[in-house]
Amino acid sequence: MAESAVKIQDTSASFVEKRVATHSHIRGLGLRDDGTATVDCGFIGQTSAREAAGLIVDLVKSRKMAGRAVLLAGEPGTGKTAIALAISQELGAKVPFRPMVGSEVFSAEVKKTEVLEENFRRAIGLRIKEIKEVFEGEVVDVTPHEVEHSGPQGKSIASVAVTLRTAKGSKTLKLDPSIYESLLKAKVTTGDVIYVEANSGTVKRLGRSDNFKQEYDLEADEFVPVPKGEVHKKREVVQDVTLHDLDMANARPQGGQDVLSLVGQMMKPRKTEVTDKLRREINKIVNRYIEQGTAELVPGVLFIDEAHILDMECFTFLNRAIESSLAPIVVLATNRGMSLIRGTDDIVAPHGIPRELLDRLLIIRTTPYGVDDMRKIIMIRARAEGLLVGEETLQVLAEVAKGSSLRYAIQLLTPASISAAAHGRDRIMPEDVNETSTLFLDTKRSAKLLLD
Ligand SMILES: Nc1ncnc2c1ncn2[C@@H]1O[C@H](COP(=O)(O)OP(=O)(O)O)[C@@H](O)[C@H]1O
Ligand SMILES: [Mg+2]
Repeated sequence: MAESAVKIQDTSASFVEKRVATHSHIRGLGLRDDGTATVDCGFIGQTSAREAAGLIVDLVKSRKMAGRAVLLAGEPGTGKTAIALAISQELGAKVPFRPMVGSEVFSAEVKKTEVLEENFRRAIGLRIKEIKEVFEGEVVDVTPHEVEHSGPQGKSIASVAVTLRTAKGSKTLKLDPSIYESLLKAKVTTGDVIYVEANSGTVKRLGRSDNFKQEYDLEADEFVPVPKGEVHKKREVVQDVTLHDLDMANARPQGGQDVLSLVGQMMKPRKTEVTDKLRREINKIVNRYIEQGTAELVPGVLFIDEAHILDMECFTFLNRAIESSLAPIVVLATNRGMSLIRGTDDIVAPHGIPRELLDRLLIIRTTPYGVDDMRKIIMIRARAEGLLVGEETLQVLAEVAKGSSLRYAIQLLTPASISAAAHGRDRIMPEDVNETSTLFLDTKRSAKLLLD
């Protein structure tokens, strides 16, 4: 059972590696320490927008941005989504980043404001500190004990013996088979430093033991000292969760045990659904923890792409939600200029966003690219996809991007490489681009053909 679970994980990992996603060449905002934009990174041009985004990242990290909102405004294909993604990369894994697209609110099953509320809570982090009883040390040995069954099941794991070592001594623990699975999941091997929570059995891998430093110094692994003191001790355990995690853990207490013992204990497990009332109760507890210093609020980022698709009801919700004491930073993106606000008959406003909300927004403009920047972006894309493209072909693609759109030119890369392969080449030539662009229309030509 445990073995097959590991196999599934492995295949999916190699699948993810091969896929080249739309923004896979973007690795952060590419800013220097002083906040100015560098030239040689995945991000080309768009310097002032990137620098502005860098300031937002600083504000978020220093927790000065809560309750504020940002608008990325610019033509399609000018890198708004790429900038939002780079912001999330800069914030790191500990700060929640929740991306959504405006149209997601129009679901048949759930109210628009409920969709927004849930996404808000996914973007608000809480760092909870608890003192817990743990077993901590360097892993010396892991031995699963199997039992034989008569009949078709064969063997199964009855328990696992884990030997942990600290500077002071060592101890062998006999643990539940479920912990063996956690160990496999966390890829724990001998020489790792781990702790096992005594109550819940949650396993946490802290890093590789310092003793193994030379052996593995090419790896990007984090090295940690062998713990001092006894194996069995009290330890401050830090958990990063979002308000949404808390909602879920308390609505369905069976599943959320390991996520949250603290808040889980505070509330009687009785609800089966996330309701407004449940959220208010959780907010109350969270606020108390924050006052007591048990928990720290980590406001993250809620990114709403294509924000002009939202309607008046949603904007009213945003207006209020942004002001709440538990609010993330909201980043909106739109490519609309003056337009009608959805859900109204005749109110036209900049970006299709009501004045009251616009007043709260810091606006970052993305500007259209010149041919030269587009050529560079296409080059980076080609490299990310592992395609060979010469100077001349790049120029042709840049002209295509100028005439139609950057996204269209980028889209052509893969089919053009197939055309090249069909002609027995591994390098994409201008004729491959011409051939594929007659096969696949851009939106302008396609719409025009339908009109004619
Ligand atoms: N300055 C840039 N540097 C590198 N790649 C970019 C840049 N701007 C846009 N791209 C890439 O071009 C494509 C279109 O950009 P995108 O962020 O989707 O635009 P928008 O959201 O403004 O419509 C994406 O693949 C994106 O990663
Ligand atoms: Mg976009």
